[in-house]
Amino acid sequence: MQAAVEWRDDHLEVIDQTLLPGRLEVLKLTSSSDVVDAIARMVVRGAPAIGVCGGFGVVLGLDEGIPLERLVVEIGSARPTGANLRWAVERVARAAQDGRDRALDEALTILREDREACERIGEFGRAELASMRRVLTHCNTGRLATTGIGTALGIVYAKAAAGDEIEVVATETRPALQGARLTAWELTQAGIPVTLISDTAAGAALASHRVDAVVVGVDRVARSGDFANKVGTYALAVLARTSGLPFYAAGPMTSFDPAAVTGAEIPIEERSSDEVRRVGSAAIAPEVAVWNPAFDITPAELVTAFITDLGVLRPPFSVSIGDALQNLDRGTELP
Ligand code: MRU
Repeated sequence: MQAAVEWRDDHLEVIDQTLLPGRLEVLKLTSSSDVVDAIARMVVRGAPAIGVCGGFGVVLGLDEGIPLERLVVEIGSARPTGANLRWAVERVARAAQDGRDRALDEALTILREDREACERIGEFGRAELASMRRVLTHCNTGRLATTGIGTALGIVYAKAAAGDEIEVVATETRPALQGARLTAWELTQAGIPVTLISDTAAGAALASHRVDAVVVGVDRVARSGDFANKVGTYALAVLARTSGLPFYAAGPMTSFDPAAVTGAEIPIEERSSDEVRRVGSAAIAPEVAVWNPAFDITPAELVTAFITDLGVLRPPFSVSIGDALQNLDRGTELP
């Protein structure tokens, strides 16, 4: 099965996610500007997949003779909210000080580590959600959003692989419809039961306990436990709290930003008005003013736990996240 992002000798191959589920098309990226364009247009999306893609973008840029500093700025800022992009680009750029081949090694290592992180999130999540059969998720956090089995959806895949009962309620995730177009497609392909709901049905679904928990991904987590994820996540967290349901956020430690103390320091990307005025290519609204933040901030107090590749982090998050970040710095062996 084609992965969302793959390196092939001297170029990248990515699944064009703007065309799914209608067409499964693989796009060749041969230059750093191809990579910037693919990330900005959401051909490649999901914080971990974007990070991996950006890392290889640095290698492609070096092959074009583009100065490293320019590559870091141009690729690193293609999308601002997810922590993984800037982190991966800077990591590959540091390796590039020792030559292009070292840069490629580092980009390949990031890809491998991302895949492994997904597996560990899946296992930790499976244990944490052992008693839960029905989960509601938002956006797409699966094979298309990472180079492995995914984060929140990785837990779903891990449960299914272990023979646990699992059913997913997926929100459609306006305006770009990652839930309807990508999550519903991915899970259907995998033979996992999925029910699609409009975003506006989430309150009714949670209040009536059609699910046992909400599990979402993360784009950037601050030291406090406030975190950015696809717009609509905050509303789901409030609804989970008022409905008495657990609310989990799953993601690799590469999405945790040691430099952001609280959510107020996380930059929120605003995207084109046309994403809201249109559904696909169909115009649904007049030339009206639009506000289109791609992400929102969920405050730490609404989070039951973070399911990461280092384990399950529980409140108080300033302590558990601080400890996890310190373990990473020390290079402590992963469990
Ligand atoms: O705009 P997108 O589709 O890149 O947003 C993706 C999300 O918000 C995901 O939840 C997040 O990146 C985690 S993906 C494993």
